[in-house]
Order: sequence, then C-alpha cells, then structure tokens
Amino acid sequence: MAEIITAKSAGFCFGVKRAVDTVYEEVERGGPIYTYGPIIHNEEVVGDLERRGVKVLDSIEQAAGITSGTIITRSHGISREEDEKLAATGARCVDATCPFVKRIHRIVEESSADGYEIIIIGNPVHPEVKGIMGWSHVPVTVIENREQAAAFVEADDGRSPEEAAQRKICIVSQTTFNANKFEEIVAILSKKGYNVRCMNTICNATHERQAEARAIAAKADIMIVIGGKSSSNSYKLYEICRKECANTHFIQTWRDLNLSPAGNEQIIGITAGASTPKNIIEEVQNHVRADF
Ligand code: F3S
Repeated sequence: MAEIITAKSAGFCFGVKRAVDTVYEEVERGGPIYTYGPIIHNEEVVGDLERRGVKVLDSIEQAAGITSGTIITRSHGISREEDEKLAATGARCVDATCPFVKRIHRIVEESSADGYEIIIIGNPVHPEVKGIMGWSHVPVTVIENREQAAAFVEADDGRSPEEAAQRKICIVSQTTFNANKFEEIVAILSKKGYNVRCMNTICNATHERQAEARAIAAKADIMIVIGGKSSSNSYKLYEICRKECANTHFIQTWRDLNLSPAGNEQIIGITAGASTPKNIIEEVQNHVRADF
C-alpha cells in the first residue's frame, strides 16, 4: 500500500478562507447576497454559492444598480474608487479583503500622501495590483521584471546622485510575487541611490505552499496538484512539482483522476492551490486511497 502525503499547506490560505467563510456566513444571515467578482477562482465553490443564491457582480456599473442586500468584496481587494462606489449603493458592503492586502493599501495611501512615488512589484493586470494602484494619491509604476527595473533607472540617467537622493520612492510588492525576483528588482532600483522606503509585502502562504509541494514532489512517485483551470497559483504549483516528479497530474476534482497505477508506487503526494476547498482535497485523497 502506497503512502499518501497531503501537504499541510494545501488549499485555502488564511485570506481566501476568511473571504469564503464570510460569504457562507452572510448566506446564513439571508437576504440577497452579491460578491464583487467571483469570490475565488474555483468553479465548484462559485457554483455551490450560486445554488445558494449568491450572485456575482461582474462590473462596478452592475454593482451600482444594486439597491438592497449585501455586497462582499474579494480577498485580493479593490481600489478606493470601487470602494467608494460600492459604499454609495443601497447595499450593505462587507469588505473581505485579506488584511495583508489591506495593509498594502494603507502603506500606498500613506506613503503617496507623504510625497513618495509608488512602485508596485507585480503583475500589472492582476486584480490585486489594480486594487493597490487605486489607493495611491499619485500615479503608480508597476514593475514586473529586471528589464523594467533597469529601464526605470536608466530613464533617470540625467539626474545627479544628489538629485536621485531627493527622489522618494516607496516600493511594495504583490503578495504572491516571487521573493527572489523581488530582491533582484529592489537591488536594481536601490543602486541609483534614491530615497527608498521598501516594504516587502510578499505573503508567506504562497512560499510555504510551494516549498512544501516541492519537498513532497521530490520524494513522490506520483504527485497530484488540485486547482482551478484558471488559477495561476495552482498552475505554478503544478510546474514546481513537475520539475521534481515527472508523473505529476493537474486536476480540478477527483473526477479528473486518471492515474493507472503501476503497482510499485510508494509515495503519492497531494497538494492544492490557494483556491481549492478542503472537501475537494479530501475527496481526492479518498479516491487515491482506494486506488493504491
Ligand atoms: Fe492573504 Fe496571503 Fe492569502 S495575502 S489572500 S493570506 S496569499
């Protein structure tokens, strides 16, 4: 019988769990419930909530038309403008922004009010980054890679070191950004001698999940990664595991399992992306246990 190792860090992080729990609690309270965007990247959870009457609002225009009920925001947060627009609707607003993301909003809001330019290290099209941008009082630069950091510094070649030192720059990062890449980008920006306020706002949940997945995949004969098709963090986990274990499978639910055991497997590893609920992980675990 093979040993099945399920990662302790598999599935919801603190912020996502808090947001999903908030929606279920509001469903219990009753009344029309809306989420501003799907609460997480998981079709099963969103489908289950839909069956319980929760509607997804796809745009701020759609939200503006709501006159009663409750609107819940997502863990990765929204911009100040959206926040204000939601508050102006007839609905009660419940902010399920992860406190770690909320902290970045506050840093950006306060630093930009203190005369700092804002640099966000992250992916400019990610909703979390768009939300963070929306809390700045000044235009924001988003930097995603070393090349962009170098271009930012080069654009400043005309300034003397004294002038560069006058430039106040506050650097924050998207919570899910890679820590090594963040350090590299900060090093490039720091060389210029700016007056830098650097806040490493990367959340450990992602790093811990990846490190544990890597360690399990390294010793597993078969590795299973559970996650939504459109969940980028789940796909990243899959890539990490595949490097360690050629026999890695990316599935959404146990129904996608297609393992054809060879009979000599000793360790089957299981992990799951940040948006995979516990019951889906347990179902996979139970089916794998039955097969091996
Ligand atoms: Fe929050 Fe970290 Fe999750 S920032 S939403 S606990 S990945």
